[in-house]
Amino acid sequence: MAVREVLRMGDPRLLRAARPVEAFSTPALHGLVRDLTDTMRHLNGAGLAAPQIGVDLQLVIFEVENNPRYPDAGKVPFTVLANPRLTPLSERMEEGWEGCLSVPGLRGLVPRYVSLRYQGFDADGRAIERTVEGFHARVVQHEVDHLLGILYPMRLRDLRNFGFTEVLFPGPDRNDG
Ligand code: NI
Repeated sequence: MAVREVLRMGDPRLLRAARPVEAFSTPALHGLVRDLTDTMRHLNGAGLAAPQIGVDLQLVIFEVENNPRYPDAGKVPFTVLANPRLTPLSERMEEGWEGCLSVPGLRGLVPRYVSLRYQGFDADGRAIERTVEGFHARVVQHEVDHLLGILYPMRLRDLRNFGFTEVLFPGPDRNDG
């Protein structure tokens, strides 16, 4: 198990556009997925993108199941997604609270497309295509933004809806990122 250090906002490596994954099914790529998974689960993240651990590749993972950081979120299956493409299915957007392991201790109200199709590949190069909505769609948009060098505070419409998690949502299990 390798829990890696997560880069925090201010690090220029979080602001790059990531390079596509070109070699699938390699020990290096499987090792990277393992490290991302260990790190995400250790920190109770809903997702993690390779640039967040300093790796310049278009690779994200996500998973939501009984997550103490997102107690009200629906389930999202564990997914490894390389070279993703998102296609919103309507113009409709919805605001929802987001946090980020690269922006620890804070939450912000972020507009996202309500429903979308995403396409990409798993670590073995198998094609993935899903149509999703709600929190699942939100998580994918947040993670794919990391591959474009975008952190969620850059998406906020009103900075008054940005603050410390423990102040916004007082409670025993909500005092982390
Ligand atoms: Ni994030």
